[in-house]
Amino acid sequence: MRVSVNIYDQIYMLAFPYLQTRSNEIHIPISRRFAENLLLKEQGDPEIVIPAILLHDVGWSMLTEDMQLKAFGRVDSDMGLNRIHEVEGVKIAKRILEEVGYNSQKTVEIINIIDEHDSRQSVISDNDRLVKDADKLFRYTSEGLVLYLIYFNATFEDWVAWFKSHVDSWFFTQTAKTLALKELGKRLA
Ligand SMILES: [Fe+2]
Repeated sequence: MRVSVNIYDQIYMLAFPYLQTRSNEIHIPISRRFAENLLLKEQGDPEIVIPAILLHDVGWSMLTEDMQLKAFGRVDSDMGLNRIHEVEGVKIAKRILEEVGYNSQKTVEIINIIDEHDSRQSVISDNDRLVKDADKLFRYTSEGLVLYLIYFNATFEDWVAWFKSHVDSWFFTQTAKTLALKELGKRLA
């Protein structure tokens, strides 16, 4: 019997070298699990959502660590630098999806989701909502907490105040809000 790696794992393997920066090697597998959980309860197409979450941050690999630190955070983020990771991410994601022979129509939506995934506050589809929610849910995990404390030299109290106050405004789906509160409860326990 001939067995082959499933398409999502193929995409992940090709994305892997681009995820070895800004702790994306930790962020992406965790957000993928959140995406899979959200898909069980919310409307969305796994064939769009899973590749989009696996590939959305590959563009960070094109920025130096210094540039990355200026490009995200609570205040004074350089949105010009942040935009570079979206634009470069689109190029890399396109190459990877082409390499695995991904459905071209689905590729178009995946690419549209990745492009402006940080700079666009609104959503373009149900699939985009799930990608945005799965991406942000990472922040509420113990891994997200530790990275936040390190990157921003912040206290646990800062983290709790900041993340508690954003549950309603950051998440689009009720399932994600529930999951965020559940994670927050675990961090406070
Ligand atoms: Fe992300």
